[in-house]
Amino acid sequence: MDKTIEKIVSLCKRRGFVFQSSDIYGGFSAIYDYGPLGIELKNHISQLWWKEMTQIHENIVGLDSGILMHPKIWEASGHVGAFNDPLIDCKKCKARFRTDEFENIEKNQNWKKIQCLNCGSIGSLTNPRQFNLMFKTNIGPIEDEGAEAYLRPETAQGIYVNYLLVQGSMRLKVPFGIAQIGKAFRNEIIARNFIFRTREFEQMEMQYFVKPGNDDLAFQEWKEKRFNFYHEILNINKTKLRYHQHINNELAHYAKEACDIEYNFPFGWSEIEGIHNRTDFDLSQHEKFSKKKLSYFDQPNNDRFLPYIIETSSGLNRMLLTVLTDSFWEDKDNNRIVLKLDPKIAPIKAAICPLTKKNGLPEKAKIIKSILKPHFKVIFDQQGSIGKRYYRQDEAGTPFVITIDHQTVEDNTVTIRYRDSQKQTRVLSERLLDLINESL
Ligand code: GAP
Repeated sequence: MDKTIEKIVSLCKRRGFVFQSSDIYGGFSAIYDYGPLGIELKNHISQLWWKEMTQIHENIVGLDSGILMHPKIWEASGHVGAFNDPLIDCKKCKARFRTDEFENIEKNQNWKKIQCLNCGSIGSLTNPRQFNLMFKTNIGPIEDEGAEAYLRPETAQGIYVNYLLVQGSMRLKVPFGIAQIGKAFRNEIIARNFIFRTREFEQMEMQYFVKPGNDDLAFQEWKEKRFNFYHEILNINKTKLRYHQHINNELAHYAKEACDIEYNFPFGWSEIEGIHNRTDFDLSQHEKFSKKKLSYFDQPNNDRFLPYIIETSSGLNRMLLTVLTDSFWEDKDNNRIVLKLDPKIAPIKAAICPLTKKNGLPEKAKIIKSILKPHFKVIFDQQGSIGKRYYRQDEAGTPFVITIDHQTVEDNTVTIRYRDSQKQTRVLSERLLDLINESL
């Protein structure tokens, strides 16, 4: 694993962001649990996405469909037949690869001539073998074929099969969008780079229904909007973001056009979100398999058509890794590690620290905490030296530490310490609420 990622993994464990699943049993590969700070950060990020989609855009509504759905959905979508990763094994070192990990190599050539990416051997690679990524389960007590179901590998299909119910109940007119946040499951064979590729993850997908012919323009617009979300809303360094436009042989079976947004992780440029023009592929497949008409009726123009769909598909866990990586700062001058999180997504907005445990300082600190806590998450911390407490909060990404000292008891002023600059100023405690709110 890359050194910086190793440091991020270690910080995540130390500070309660992310833990390896089933840790006391030796871990469970490619599944992670989110600790107290991780879930706060994850919630803040997903709330920003949800707000952007369903509040800022007046023609996008939300949905929460089931993880388990009718198995025919996955036949219609192509996942039963085509959701395969061709895998290659190295017979010598037992490493396993997806074909797309080998750069600039034709898929149907002699793999015996290619060097193993792990041990470097030549002649040890097998030919690619197909492997379906969907997790199977059984509904009901008897494990026969009729009761077989899948854990959804994407949230998108839940939107497609509900689209007319949503449209009708909300009286929506094309163009409109449906947004959904939820768990997805893929039996990933090669899961690496911490939470970048896991077997259980959360997707944030939005499907935008447009009239055929208006799809190219909508695709361009969503490409731009999604790119801007990363640097304008999440404050991600713009020079570490780029587009990767798919060329013909990279396109998924459903896509007319596709573009990824990539981030420059310590392990290289990698996809964090995909924008796809899925045409009417999914709706026409569901018409065929369900034998139900799924066309949209445009009443004013007396026109009936199957809408084209522009999809924006992001992974919440990858977005969180992007935010962690982008904000991770080793401040070598001051021998500390800092998460320079944008205050609006920081799990804790301020830590309230009495300088000592005596002379009424903890009591005063608790009063200040009770004034601030209805507005945002604050914590009380009186353990260890003040320097240690500062550094703990730096690692947690807490933008402000408020120190209560002897002067506070006399004139009601406190010091507020700024995480990135470490500057401290003295302010009246009554001003804290406004001061912190301004930064959010
Ligand atoms: N509905 C389209 C779709 O699912 P995708 O490119 O397979 O497209 C979209 O996935 C996004 O979901 C990716 O850009 C990534 O952020 C996230 N994602 C996919 N597989 C993942 C995995 N195994 N672990 C974490 N995130 C994943």
